[in-house]
Amino acid sequence: MSTTKTPEMEGEVYFPSPQVIEQAYVKDWEALAKRARNDLAGFWAEQAEELEWVQKWDKVLDDSDKPFYKWFVGGKVNITHNCIDRHLKTFRKNKLALFWESEDGKLERTFSYFAVNREVNRMANIIKAMGIQKGDRVTIYMGRIPEIIFAMLACAKIGAIHSVVFGGFSVDALQGRIEDSLSKLVITCDGSYQNGKIVELKRTVDTALKGCASVENVIVVKRTGHEVPMEAGRDHWYHDMCALPIANDKCATEVMDTEDPLYILYTSGSTGKPKAIVHTHGGYMVGTYTTLKYVFDLKDDDRWWCAADPGWVTGHSYIVYGPLLNGATSFMFEGGPSYPYPNRWWQCIERFGITVFYTAPTAIRGLMRFGEAWPNKHDLSSLRLLGSVGEPINPEAWKWYYRVIGKERCPIMDTWWQTETGMFMITPTPTVPLKPGSGTRPFFGQEAEILNEEGRPVPDGEEGYLVLKNPWPAMLRTIYGDPQRYVQQYWSKYPGKYMTGDSAKRDKDGYFWIIGRVDDVIKVSGHRLGTAEVESALVSHPAVAEAAAIGLPHDIKGQAIHVFCLLRSGFTASPELAEELRQHVATHMGPIARPEEVKFVDKLPKTRSGKIMRRVLKARAQGLPEGDISTLEE
Ligand code: WT7
Repeated sequence: MSTTKTPEMEGEVYFPSPQVIEQAYVKDWEALAKRARNDLAGFWAEQAEELEWVQKWDKVLDDSDKPFYKWFVGGKVNITHNCIDRHLKTFRKNKLALFWESEDGKLERTFSYFAVNREVNRMANIIKAMGIQKGDRVTIYMGRIPEIIFAMLACAKIGAIHSVVFGGFSVDALQGRIEDSLSKLVITCDGSYQNGKIVELKRTVDTALKGCASVENVIVVKRTGHEVPMEAGRDHWYHDMCALPIANDKCATEVMDTEDPLYILYTSGSTGKPKAIVHTHGGYMVGTYTTLKYVFDLKDDDRWWCAADPGWVTGHSYIVYGPLLNGATSFMFEGGPSYPYPNRWWQCIERFGITVFYTAPTAIRGLMRFGEAWPNKHDLSSLRLLGSVGEPINPEAWKWYYRVIGKERCPIMDTWWQTETGMFMITPTPTVPLKPGSGTRPFFGQEAEILNEEGRPVPDGEEGYLVLKNPWPAMLRTIYGDPQRYVQQYWSKYPGKYMTGDSAKRDKDGYFWIIGRVDDVIKVSGHRLGTAEVESALVSHPAVAEAAAIGLPHDIKGQAIHVFCLLRSGFTASPELAEELRQHVATHMGPIARPEEVKFVDKLPKTRSGKIMRRVLKARAQGLPEGDISTLEE
């Protein structure tokens, strides 16, 4: 790549090298963009043709009942068939599908497509033996081990709807999600490893299940081997089940309607409880397949590493489904970036010859802090493309990533998307000129706009609400069990347009610059948390009468959680109590939700109707103007 300032484009621009252009699938971005703009359905049908359908669709896009869009209507398909079976008829049968390394580096596991098929079939048979049928929900709560992938694919194979709960969440978060989904089965492991310590997943499940009547069975995969209680009749060791005759290597794939739900994934919204986003077998499959192929340019000789967790949408789309749909070889690492040393990831890249690497800005900033000497110990020359996701990447981090990790050879794909979108929405492809900090332009078939409060486009360079104008195949279909909330949350502010919840700017070259969330979502280290969840964890403590949580800028995490608490009478503010409350949130919600700071206050700013004005708290905490406070009750 080369950097230049050009008279044609605004700001600092990085152009692709001839080698990058030479290998890219998309050589002529404009041509494909035009193709999709002129014929959205035709463009997506063309992509869908590359996959296998039990029965082809009658109609690509049905928009007769907006905003309940349907894709590939009338088609029959199963995503797992396209992730696995499709490849077994080709040379990919013997190709490495997945390889994995344990946190301590002592264990390596590898699976060809043939082997993945066997693992998934066995797991699917066991899940079926637990009485799970098409349409039933299964909660998966595990660490980063291959079985989490097999469990997801096994559910999809038999038509069960998986609901993965991130293994870093704790009891309240898990319980709420199991209850809302009415899962009959939970798949977990005895524990997972984090920084050399065991995370007690199974014990957390036990506590969570105390309040959940729907769960009949728990499958426990052995990972750590430490002692965990097993409840007779309810809990089953996976390895014991594998020894039973039902756990054989063959399992029929359920034929699904394209619009049948594939999974639900809970995410934080602006208010209230997390909502279950619904994705489907057909459209989601086409969307994740196409975006991963074009944006990360995956070829048969690539070694792809998406360093996210399968428990978030990034993992669903780009660790599990997208790579397998593409017949790619992908790596999964059990641990985090800096245990035992800050070179752990760079060591993996060298050891396993990773060619395309995808991570979050927070990780880059965290690793930058340890200095260049750590990555410089390693040969990173296998890399050819890099990616970023989860929050805006600040130009300093972008340049460090570009120079120190990519050695100025590897374009950085800054992909903007959401749990709801299922696939990349604003993103470059490898040959697109890059500007550090911008995700460039909408993906093929998409158009984005920046609107003001009244719904009119703002001039280029001005901040406003980011909306998407066109439907896309991997779009969420609804909120599980609450279609009204789906309409209200995403489609009511600007009828006909999808409201992203982000603010952004567009520059004169049509490049988009994401600024951040405009709702009550906090992005801590790229993880999406809701103020409501943190607040409800706080008020479950006997000392707290009322609480408000906000996100404030943080050098490494992007945002950190700050909370304001009003104490019940009889309790006195103290540093010890503040610490106790921080710990309380971590225990109930998960360590990622641990507040940075707890402040005790006598009063919270509220509207006359009693809503907490977090915006005012945020402005005050940063010494910024409070904006319009005409509705403040004081
Ligand atoms: C929110 C969605 C989808 C992957 C993981 C996040 C922020 C995501 C970017 C990016 C700037 C980004 C937005 C968005 N976001 N990617 N490349 N640049 N901001 O999914 O947890 O549903 O969060 O993450 O604010 O709305 P999520």
